Amino acid sequence: MLVTTARKPSKAIEAEAREIAAAHGIPCLPRGNRNLESLLREFNTVLVLSDRGLSCFTPGGELFFHPNMAAVRIRLLRQGKEDKMLDICELTPGDSFLDCTAGLCSDSLVAKYQVGEKGRVLSLEQSLPIYLVMLHGLKNANPPRFRELARGIELVHADFRSYLQQLPPRSFDVVYFDPMFDVPVLEASSLMPLRPLACDKPLTPGDIDLAARVARRRVVVKQRSFFDFSRLGMSQRGGPRRKTAYGVLEIKENENGF
Ligand SMILES: C[S@@+](CC[C@H](N)C(=O)[O-])C[C@H]1O[C@@H](n2cnc3c(N)ncnc32)[C@H](O)[C@@H]1O
Repeated sequence: MLVTTARKPSKAIEAEAREIAAAHGIPCLPRGNRNLESLLREFNTVLVLSDRGLSCFTPGGELFFHPNMAAVRIRLLRQGKEDKMLDICELTPGDSFLDCTAGLCSDSLVAKYQVGEKGRVLSLEQSLPIYLVMLHGLKNANPPRFRELARGIELVHADFRSYLQQLPPRSFDVVYFDPMFDVPVLEASSLMPLRPLACDKPLTPGDIDLAARVARRRVVVKQRSFFDFSRLGMSQRGGPRRKTAYGVLEIKENENGF
C-alpha cells in the first residue's frame, strides 16, 4: 500500500498526505509525473489525496466516501418513511449503537441521524485503507449540514473480534453487523470498489456471543434473505421477497448474570 497525492498538489495536500502515511506506517511517494496505472502495478493499493478528498485505488476501482445512500435514506426518514434497519434495531434518540462493520458508513450515518446529538454511534472497521478513506470523508463531508452528522460518528480502526472483548458488558443498546455477503447483491454496486479491500471472514456463533455480552437490548445482523440465521442462534426478520434480511437476538434482562 502507498500514499500519494494527485498531480500538482498544493503544499497543504502534500503535507497532509505525509501525515496520513506517517501516522499509519505507510510509505508516502511524491506523485511527480507517475501515472496511476504504473503505481497500481507496483503497489496494488494506492491512496490518493487531492482537494476532492482521499480515494483508494485498486485494480477493482476507486473507493471514495460518498454519503449518497445515507442521504437518500435520511431524506425519506424526514418525509416520515420507514427505514428497515432502524425499525429492526428499534433505535430511538439518545440510544447507543455499535456498528461492528463500518464499511461505507451509510448505516452508521443513518443510525447517527436517528440517535441524535445525545446518542452515540461507534463504528469499527478492520481494513486500514477503508478506514482511512472513511475517516477522511466523515471529517470533510459535504454539504456542511451533513458534516455535523458525519463528524458525530466515532470511527475506530479495529477488528470487532478483539474490540468487543475490551468493552464493558451491556455498554451499547444495539450491536450491529453488516458483514460482506458471500453472494453479493449485484445492485449494491457502491460496495464493489470496497470488496477487494474488505475483510470478509464470515460471522460465527462465537462472534454473536461476544456481541451479546456488550449489547443491552439486541444484536442485529444483516444478511442475504436466504441466509440461515438459526446457525447464529438468531431469529429472522424481514421478508423472503426482499434481497436482504436481518437476524435478531434479543437480550433478556439479567441474561448471563449481568
Ligand atoms: C458490507 S460492508 C458494511 C457496509 C456498511 N454497513 C455501510 O452501510 O456502508 C462490511 C465491512 O465490514 C468490515 N469488516 C469485516 N470484518 C470486520 C471485522 N472483523 N472488524 C471490523 N470490520 C470488519 C469490512 O472490511 C467491510 O468494510
